Amino acid sequence: MPRMTSNRDLLARSLSAVWHPCTQMKRHETLPLVPIARGEGAWLVDFDGKRYLDTVSSWWVNLFGHCNPRINAALVDQLGKLEHVMLAGFTHEPVVQLSEKLRALAPAGLGHCFYGSDGASATEIALKMSAHYWRNRGQPEKTQFISLQNSYHGETLGALSVTDVALFRDAYGALIKQNATVPSPDWRKAEAGESAKAFALRCADALEAHLQQHHTRLAAFIVEPLIQGAAGMAMYHPVYLSRARELCSKYGVHLIADEIAVGMGRSGTMFACEQAGISPDFLLISKGITGGYLPLSIVMTTADIYQAFYADETARGFLHSHSYTGNPLACRAALATLEIFEQDDVLTANRSKAAFFNRIAQPLREHTKVRNFRHTGMVWAFEVDTPHADFAQRCFSLGLRHELLLRPMGNTVYFMPPYIISEDEMQMLVAHTIAIIDDLS
Ligand SMILES: Cc1ncc(COP(=O)(O)O)c(C=O)c1O
Repeated sequence: MPRMTSNRDLLARSLSAVWHPCTQMKRHETLPLVPIARGEGAWLVDFDGKRYLDTVSSWWVNLFGHCNPRINAALVDQLGKLEHVMLAGFTHEPVVQLSEKLRALAPAGLGHCFYGSDGASATEIALKMSAHYWRNRGQPEKTQFISLQNSYHGETLGALSVTDVALFRDAYGALIKQNATVPSPDWRKAEAGESAKAFALRCADALEAHLQQHHTRLAAFIVEPLIQGAAGMAMYHPVYLSRARELCSKYGVHLIADEIAVGMGRSGTMFACEQAGISPDFLLISKGITGGYLPLSIVMTTADIYQAFYADETARGFLHSHSYTGNPLACRAALATLEIFEQDDVLTANRSKAAFFNRIAQPLREHTKVRNFRHTGMVWAFEVDTPHADFAQRCFSLGLRHELLLRPMGNTVYFMPPYIISEDEMQMLVAHTIAIIDDLS
């Protein structure tokens, strides 16, 4: 008989053998880990059958629910054909099909797909590719990058060099290249009476001032389009992106759109850049691309950039790789995900879903302790007035008791649910969140 796993047993074994990510492990002396036995649609379930609504899509990756039958079937089929082959010197059907499909879906001009694994590896690839492009074009001094204040582009050393979150960066300061930041168009920072658009334009002026002064040494400006996720779901007006595109072209600096979190329909359009009518020089995709199944990231870029590497000398090529680059199973999960978008007209369905949620969320928006209620696509966020310095932890724990997986950032609560969330589940999410806020404010 196989040994039966219990919640308690798994927790003890996990704390003894697993070093969990983004965690002060000592905290688990008082805050228990949450054991998960299985997933089903928008729900995660423990070994006693206790369930949690996955309102954060398991770190923003899950689009069509846990154990989605269509993605499962595609993976089972792929397992019987090819699990993996190296992508240097070899190719396979899923990676070719996926690259062709993404070329058709992405903003114009992004015809070349380079593959990584997690989001941070896409950031690394784009930064390296940008600087290497300028070197190949005879401008080796262009090696600096800029990002927005409070930006987040991943945790590896290159990605941290364009990430402006002190908690994640400071311990590694000596290891990280110093890059500058420019003001964030996050509309919460606008002057009283200033519109989100006017504020975005004012921030774009600050970007121009920086570009004017430093463009000769700048390789690229990297930006999270429309929503700065880790900054607490900071949202901003698309005019900032249109101006950023114009300015980067004017000053000869690449624009890297990091759509790792906001791509794949999360912002309301397939890619957030569409809402500003722009094409970046690099588009970064990860997280939702496999429906939340397997690690995969893609850097899409232009013919101009591709051609700068196309030469007789090996060293002019982009000699970057990861063992699992373009893994067939991950690509097949991505193809199944894109098929669901097509077959179910997901972007249209999400618009109705978001409208429904905005209607039923009215009591939350009007709650006396709720500030800055905001929404873009399938992301909602707000701040809570609370006396508790440890609000995030309390809210997480209380959320579990209310069958919700909530992971506030400071006093910012956000919802980024799987797209298959039902109307009943949305009603429950609003009602239980109000109960939690009443308890904690
Ligand atoms: C905008 C953005 N870029 C990059 C990353 C890093 O992705 P990963 O955690 O897969 O390395 C994240 C992760 O949250 C992100 O939100």
